[in-house]
Amino acid sequence: MEISVIGTGYVGLVTGVCLAHIGNEVTCIDIDKEKVNTLKKGISPIYEEGLTELMEENIKNGKLNFTSDYKEGLQGKKVVYIAVGTPQSDDGSADLTFVNRACESIAQNLEDDVIIVTKSTVPVGTNEYIKQKIEMDLKKEVNIKIASNPEFLRQGSAVYDTFNGDRIVIGSDDEHALELLEKINEGFGLPILKTDLRSAEMIKYASNAFLATKISFINEMANLSEKIGANIDLVAKGIGMDKRIGENFLNAGIGYGGSCFPKDTRAIISIGKQADYPMPILENVVDANERQRDILVDKVLNSYKDIHGKRIAVLGLAFKPNTDDMREAPSISVTEKLLEHGAIISAYDPVAIDNAKKVLSSKVTYATGIEEAIDGADLVLILTEWAEIKRFPLENYKAYMAKPIIFDGRNCHSLEAARASGVEYHSIGRPSIK
Ligand code: UDX
Repeated sequence: MEISVIGTGYVGLVTGVCLAHIGNEVTCIDIDKEKVNTLKKGISPIYEEGLTELMEENIKNGKLNFTSDYKEGLQGKKVVYIAVGTPQSDDGSADLTFVNRACESIAQNLEDDVIIVTKSTVPVGTNEYIKQKIEMDLKKEVNIKIASNPEFLRQGSAVYDTFNGDRIVIGSDDEHALELLEKINEGFGLPILKTDLRSAEMIKYASNAFLATKISFINEMANLSEKIGANIDLVAKGIGMDKRIGENFLNAGIGYGGSCFPKDTRAIISIGKQADYPMPILENVVDANERQRDILVDKVLNSYKDIHGKRIAVLGLAFKPNTDDMREAPSISVTEKLLEHGAIISAYDPVAIDNAKKVLSSKVTYATGIEEAIDGADLVLILTEWAEIKRFPLENYKAYMAKPIIFDGRNCHSLEAARASGVEYHSIGRPSIK
């Protein structure tokens, strides 16, 4: 099948590469010429496991092309995926500027009938709007069908998820579009759910909202467990054994971040407002997450009233491991708060330092490894559970710090290991070890 994918961000690029890998002829379109030149060379601008290998392979065998020219990119294509960004507007709703621009460019350059598939996360009803908008601006009379195909990819494991996810959702009010997309997607070998257009749009928001709720819920249980002397590891294990609850996504910590959960939870609240339907559960999920980001610094300040002039090592900056993404990373507010209280910060992250430099205060200095970051530090704060940080034995901190005190915002170490190491260890939802 001849396919174009518009937008080569993390969703668009992974989608384009994987569609080519299952045998389609794919052209990815992006208006950023410089980026297109890089992509043509097989270089991925994002850190995503396995992506570069698949890109190289499919560029080489001619299945994958890149262009910044819409006319060239749309020529002879039967299916066009829209995978541009939908960032958050000031009022929390999704900003459709890039979607609108993509629609205009599609309309001006379409020569043949197509199925437009929306990958971007868009408010319920947007797909109907996309169809109308393209039809309004068309230069040539062609037939347009519309479908929604939301993505459920996790950053860092997006390629793996494409081939190993739980389901593929395709929504359309057109039988032919549903059939064709089902055929294309069969190549991924996952269960396919076909729905109407609006339900598919809603599934994406509802999935992310539910997962965000699960995290805020376990964090609330963790905070209470700590107060009453329970251990959240055991509580999570105990509730997760109930299949109705499930054991995944029950890791307590300093809250969710990234490009999806914060944006999509606020967007669905905004959709609720527009539909005149308040969403108190999700409003509280968002508030609880904001508060959770402060929890580690609050713990530090409760234990050590004055951190002015104290040297603090911050380990892990990305919003989660295996990504260099700093969007909505808890490390942003944590470092700001520490600096407000006069701390001196040395930070380390295995891959996110370049991006961190763009968003963190210029007062933060960066280390090239864990050892360098903690050398001579008074306190250590762990903010991302990178394997490298989890593997670094607690007793090793003693070689670099006069009196190792660790505040672990991601519960990277077991309490047994903490006890055996002899370091002072504070974590989330578990008793402190002193
Ligand atoms: C998420 C969804 O998983 C994916 O389906 C959707 O398409 C996009 O949003 P992503 O943002 O890449 O993917 O990351 P994910 O691995 O889901 O983690 C999101 C955030 O939740 C991270 O900040 C992570 O640290 C946090 N988290 C996750 C927890 O705090 N506890 C958990 O148990 C799981």
